[in-house]
Amino acid sequence: MTTDTPRTMGQQFGRRSWAEPWKIKMVEPLNMTTRDQRVRAMAEAGYNTFLLRSEDVYIDLLTDSGTSAMSDRQWAGLLLGDEAYAGSRNFYHLEEVVRRIYGYRHVLPTHQGRGAEHLISRAAIQPGQRVPGNMYFTTTRLHQELAGGHFVDVIIDEAHDPASQHLFKGNIDLGKLEQAIQAVGPAQVAYVSLAATVNMAGGQPVSMANAREVRALCHRHGVRLFLDATRLMENAFFIQEREPGYEGRSIAEIAAEFCGYADGAWMSAKKDSLVNIGGWLAVNDDELYQELCNLVVVYEGLHTYGGMAGRDMEAMAIGIEESAREDHLRSRIGQVRYLGELLLDWGVPIVQPVGGHAIFLDARRFYPQLPQDAFPAQTLAAELYLDSGVRSMERGIASAGRDPKTGDHHRPALELTRLTIPRRVYTQAHMDVVAESVKAVYDRREEARGLRMVFEPKYLRFFQARFEPLCD
Ligand code: F0G
Repeated sequence: MTTDTPRTMGQQFGRRSWAEPWKIKMVEPLNMTTRDQRVRAMAEAGYNTFLLRSEDVYIDLLTDSGTSAMSDRQWAGLLLGDEAYAGSRNFYHLEEVVRRIYGYRHVLPTHQGRGAEHLISRAAIQPGQRVPGNMYFTTTRLHQELAGGHFVDVIIDEAHDPASQHLFKGNIDLGKLEQAIQAVGPAQVAYVSLAATVNMAGGQPVSMANAREVRALCHRHGVRLFLDATRLMENAFFIQEREPGYEGRSIAEIAAEFCGYADGAWMSAKKDSLVNIGGWLAVNDDELYQELCNLVVVYEGLHTYGGMAGRDMEAMAIGIEESAREDHLRSRIGQVRYLGELLLDWGVPIVQPVGGHAIFLDARRFYPQLPQDAFPAQTLAAELYLDSGVRSMERGIASAGRDPKTGDHHRPALELTRLTIPRRVYTQAHMDVVAESVKAVYDRREEARGLRMVFEPKYLRFFQARFEPLCD
């Protein structure tokens, strides 16, 4: 296994670091704020980093979604936009690239990932059916539930343990999956929902062997397997790095084999594919495609634009090709690891191994004095912003929402604060500043008192919920 980072490579070869495989052509100035300004901004935002204005943020690690820097080729692609209502040439370019790289027969553009999740959930779930998956994702599970489905978590136990060093913590537990199918019978299972990588587990990959075995199990039961391909290229990088037999294979070959195990996939192109907006849904089955093709017109737009401008489809087609480049992935994941190693050196508790898109601070170990109902991860996100203007995101009890049947909070084992790294946007110096701020907050950890929720929206509450500080 090789885990090259700028630092470990430096040690190995006597300070011969690698650098990003691009140079900067245009810059966007950042705003620095004073602590007083941040205290005011945080209170106005109800201690929810989603409600901050981006102008009040210094280094924005809220998400890697739609926040990447496009290449000069992608920007040039925008000018090739064919803004016809129907049959835009950019659609055919996108269709060709998705077919070639991901390997599915039928391709439908959607405005972003959740547009595709909505359509596949509507078309493939009958009310009352189960949808087993490798850990929930917020929007994915909600669309499954809104379609009448019931999500069942079948990820391996190690995924719920932030300290487990398992190299493929995104894997499905085949025993749990078999049990989930046997419990209701295959006819009551809509499909298996496989995400690669697994966002809520810490950007953890799924092994090729696991995908193959899950496929075989699904096949035996006649159950369909659909893939959330949002960060598949990052998953392919981990397979190349860690899985015996894949060292010499290209990212594109690995991605194509992985996709081949699924009957279709949905995509938030705002991540891997290096664009600010966009997504798609792709399937092999002709009948299912016909239904989706009809639904897309109702909810997104005609099947040759699906809610996207021609120019954005062009940028996406180019971004997909760039996303499969090995030098890109090595630098992207290398930067995430660089930040993770700094924090580990300083004893800050994070999810290990470091995943593909973010560092996840383990708020339970960070703030052992706070019960989960005092929102430790939300508290940590607020404290980090107050310290330095770095914006992060809660991925714990607030994100998990409520059980639709009992109305009680879901209480996830993982209570995490995510430092999500946009692709090709920040430098190593930014990572140093972030790490130093996390360290400063860690040094003051005993002072934290937690938050209480004072406003709670019905769906996906973490986006718009408001909080107030708890006092002694
Ligand atoms: N699937 C995964 C694994 C995701 O991470 C996301 C979005 C989606 C689906 C939905 O896609 O946002 O384009 O509608 N994740 C973002 C995040 C929001 O910050 O992790 P979308």
